Amino acid sequence: MTITSDSDKHTHKKLNDSAKEHLWMHFTRHSAYLEQDVDIPIIVKGEGPYIYTSTGQKIIDGLAGLFTTQIGHGRKELADAAAAQMQTLDFFPLWSYGHNNAIELADRLASYTPGDLNRVFFTTGGGEAVETAWKLAKQYFKLTGHVNKYKVISRYVAYHGTTQGALALTGIPIARAPYEPLVPGAIKVPNTNFYRAPKHLQNDEEAFGRWAADRIEEAIILEGPDTVAAVFLEPVQNSGGCFPPPPGYWQRVREICNKHNVLLVADETITGFGRVGAMFASNRLNAQPDIITCAKGLTSGYFPIGAMIASDRLFEPFKQGKNFMPHGFTFGGHPVGAAVAMANLDIIENEKVIENVLANEDYFRKSLESLHDLPIVGNVRGMGYFYGIEMVKDKNTRETFNDEESELLIRGFLSRQLLKNGLYCRADDRGDPVIQLSPPLNIGPKVIDEITAVVRKTLIEAWELF
Ligand SMILES: Cc1ncc(COP(=O)(O)O)c(C=O)c1O
Repeated sequence: MTITSDSDKHTHKKLNDSAKEHLWMHFTRHSAYLEQDVDIPIIVKGEGPYIYTSTGQKIIDGLAGLFTTQIGHGRKELADAAAAQMQTLDFFPLWSYGHNNAIELADRLASYTPGDLNRVFFTTGGGEAVETAWKLAKQYFKLTGHVNKYKVISRYVAYHGTTQGALALTGIPIARAPYEPLVPGAIKVPNTNFYRAPKHLQNDEEAFGRWAADRIEEAIILEGPDTVAAVFLEPVQNSGGCFPPPPGYWQRVREICNKHNVLLVADETITGFGRVGAMFASNRLNAQPDIITCAKGLTSGYFPIGAMIASDRLFEPFKQGKNFMPHGFTFGGHPVGAAVAMANLDIIENEKVIENVLANEDYFRKSLESLHDLPIVGNVRGMGYFYGIEMVKDKNTRETFNDEESELLIRGFLSRQLLKNGLYCRADDRGDPVIQLSPPLNIGPKVIDEITAVVRKTLIEAWELF
């Protein structure tokens, strides 16, 4: 079906029929809409922390699109920056050429990073940045005489993207299985889910962190240090429902990486640009990675762009002779994306968006922790404006829902009911069942209260199912 006129465009039914006919949605079970003749939610407008559906419903964007829209929706400054750039230099690649926005943005990103992470390779998103980081790690070691170092270590249930290399790093079985065999050499270790820590460590977060970090060393030794190139970690792991690092974890991992000559990559695709109360989470955690990968919040999602930011040491061999990375993307560092990123970063700085997160993160956490009186709420965790609420069948024993119950809870109920009650966020069971919240970073107590109220109402309704 072709949508012809403007009035047609806004006809909910026509859009739905057309979507069902032609649109292939990402990570979507289409049968949920096709077999049951359920409407696909269609978002037609965004304004501040709210989005609007084609049926006219106003909904809180509790996930910032997809952990992305740091400054909220509908900012004219970003549209103006894009329009101005399109009229000046619409497109040019970074293949042996520079353009001023990419140069200025690289300089600005380098100024935000910890230590000597000064070299910026632009991509169009997070997965490409992760791919680039793995390729760089392999090539760096080849160029410096460690030709067998190619393996990578990442954590259970972590998400690092869907292209074949990034997917090999991703630790979510359901995302991997259809595409096996993946890129070889990607090893998995435990994540930092303290709520599900081994029994003997459940009362000591620091000891748990030490234990979890030591699993990385164990894997390096098992694989052979001369074969391992890099460890990929999100500062706060998203998938599984927001696992902050225990105290000392990043420092211990750094020691391990130094000891075995392994690179440490902070995948800040989500945690970058204020999400956890700093431009990069690495700054707040006093973490010193060798590489940062980022995307999403860099433009608040107004234009696709991502980056891999490497330390001076890693660029050193590429200053010499015929060495270069035979690697790139047509749209990596697009002039319009770079212009939009600069305008977005201006807003983050001028409007003190990160300061807002720091001022309100305790309020946000306490507001969500007030949900602990509900029998279904097992654990609230996270930092900054980034939280996960783990749902359990039995609070005392921490018993989780079985597969069938989880299916009913997540896909059969929560995903739709949260939206119906006025909140877009994520209900997910890639690990244990969780609700994930990651709203725009410029909201305050009023919208936080609205979010908590919808979650409360919906979780009370959900408990009735069991
Ligand atoms: C930590 C992390 N890494 C990588 C990616 C992949 O980013 P993209 O979807 O832009 O390729 C994501 C996406 O959510 C992510 O959360």
